[in-house]
Amino acid sequence: MNVLRWVGCLLILKVTIDILKNYPGYLPPDFTTDFLRGRESEFFGVYQWAFYPHLLAGPLSLVLGMVLLSKRIRQHYPRWHRRVGKLQVACTLLVLVPSGFWMAFYAQEGLSVKIAFALLAIATGMTTWFGWNAAVRKEFAKHRLWMLRSYVLLCSAVFLRLIGGAFVITGIEEEWTYRMAAWVCWLVPLAVFELTRIGTKKRKRVPITQ
Ligand code: HEM
Repeated sequence: MNVLRWVGCLLILKVTIDILKNYPGYLPPDFTTDFLRGRESEFFGVYQWAFYPHLLAGPLSLVLGMVLLSKRIRQHYPRWHRRVGKLQVACTLLVLVPSGFWMAFYAQEGLSVKIAFALLAIATGMTTWFGWNAAVRKEFAKHRLWMLRSYVLLCSAVFLRLIGGAFVITGIEEEWTYRMAAWVCWLVPLAVFELTRIGTKKRKRVPITQ
């Protein structure tokens, strides 16, 4: 399990670094880059005010989340866990979610992609908010569960890039791939998380008879 955790963390860090490598093309905006191509007309409106904060808050939330999920840090430095947690909640609720929600309506591959990203923003906002509230009420089991859900949703950014990369490697670069990835990148990890959790809970309840 520990090995899996390490592999997961390394994968998240690797993809986050790859995402950061695109940033020189965004500041100043280069409209020949994959993401900004065709966005010149909308970019200099409100979009840029969502885009740049999103670029800052996204990687930060992934890294802070990783620190917060570490049991060792939580147990040895509880005060730091609370401080970093507050920063994470502010970063997610005040910057990442509103900017992601706004940007969702400018996604280029059709209405279903816009809806997928808008719902992802709402789900991320709600899970983070519930997690925060549970911590305030000192309901720590609930807090942990909601924050795990929130992090799974934050990792949609990682899954989206992994799915995109898999399509490029296999040579499947059709229009529908992005439409599908926009849903799969968060619904599938969330479903896997919930099913694993239910499975573990059931296994724990089964009495040992031998
Ligand atoms: C979970 C909540 C999130 C939502 C709702 C969200 C939403 C969005 C949307 C709608 C776009 C524009 C997509 C398009 O027009 O096709 C976008 C782009 C982007 N997002 Fe997020 N996002 C979230 C989390 C993250 C995270 C955690 C990162 C961390 C790396 C991130 C990094 C980026 C980057 C760098 C872009 C610009 C495009 C690129 O370089 O790939 N986002 N996001």
